[in-house]
Amino acid sequence: MDILQAFNEFEVAALAAIEAASDGAALEKVRIEYLGQKSGRIRDLQKLVGQATPAEKPQVGKRFNDVRTVVAARLEARVEELKTAALKAAADFDVTLPGERPVIGRLHPITQVMNEFRELMGRFGFTVVDGPEIEDERHNFEALNIPEDHPARDPLDNFYVACASSLAGGPVLLRSQTSTVQIRTMEKTPPPVRIVSLGRVYRPDTIDATHSCMFHQMEGLLVDRRVTMAQLKTVLSQFARSFLGPEVEIRFRPSFFPFTEPSVEVDMKWGDSWMEIGGAGMVDPAVFAAVGYDPEEYTGFAFGLGIERFCMKHFGVDDIRRFYENDLRFLSQF
Ligand code: PHE
Repeated sequence: MDILQAFNEFEVAALAAIEAASDGAALEKVRIEYLGQKSGRIRDLQKLVGQATPAEKPQVGKRFNDVRTVVAARLEARVEELKTAALKAAADFDVTLPGERPVIGRLHPITQVMNEFRELMGRFGFTVVDGPEIEDERHNFEALNIPEDHPARDPLDNFYVACASSLAGGPVLLRSQTSTVQIRTMEKTPPPVRIVSLGRVYRPDTIDATHSCMFHQMEGLLVDRRVTMAQLKTVLSQFARSFLGPEVEIRFRPSFFPFTEPSVEVDMKWGDSWMEIGGAGMVDPAVFAAVGYDPEEYTGFAFGLGIERFCMKHFGVDDIRRFYENDLRFLSQF
């Protein structure tokens, strides 16, 4: 009989759907689809009962009731099963187990040192300023009193990034020193000036344990009336002591930079050896002239320190290349 066949199909499909439901919400959907009062499939079966002949009626009617009861009972049982399973899963979760420690990132050692430098120099009254890493020749050389024929301008010693003819503004290069920011600051601000600028510089050096073609410098510039070299030495030694400890000594050796006169190399003694940490000097009057400061009225000092040097000394790192390899086994030690 076709009608009974339809009842069987309904039963098989409904029971399969009940087994497949994995939570209460899914089970409720199954209930509505099959047993729903308004539009459940059970309504179609009911219509079939109406269509049965008087002779078929008792058998069809009984089968209809049986199918409905079986499906409803299984549905109810499954609701309970899922509830019990959910409770058991909750009970199996041991809240006393130690948690999984989340992996938290940290600042790169160079960044840590730079942040501390900014903080220390801030306490000495220096404002932090920034400058571009791609520079023109005026800021990297000319205004710093480095003439066209100076060896520092050799294209082989610099990273020029575009050819002269392609740019209306002239050649540009990756800055080879942060002294560029001295010029940019003085162009914008009348004296007095008291700034530091920390950032990357680029030089085509052969890479080894102490040289990299990219490294970081901290530039300092102080301009005011009656600034002296003694003040430069005080600032640098106070700075070094604040960073590394009271036993640090500072030493100046005569040197030459086109933008300072006199110029010195700055050495620092920490432990038992002297280490060169940068250059410094009194701002050359030619630099003041280039930015429109009156050299008769103002004097100033400037310094440029290699940040990696401090960082290596501070953390006991013996190879500068480690800082740039992005090896987490190295970086996560700091
Ligand atoms: N710019 C110089 C360098 O990179 C360092 C320096 C800065 C020297 C300021 C004097 C004054 O070597």
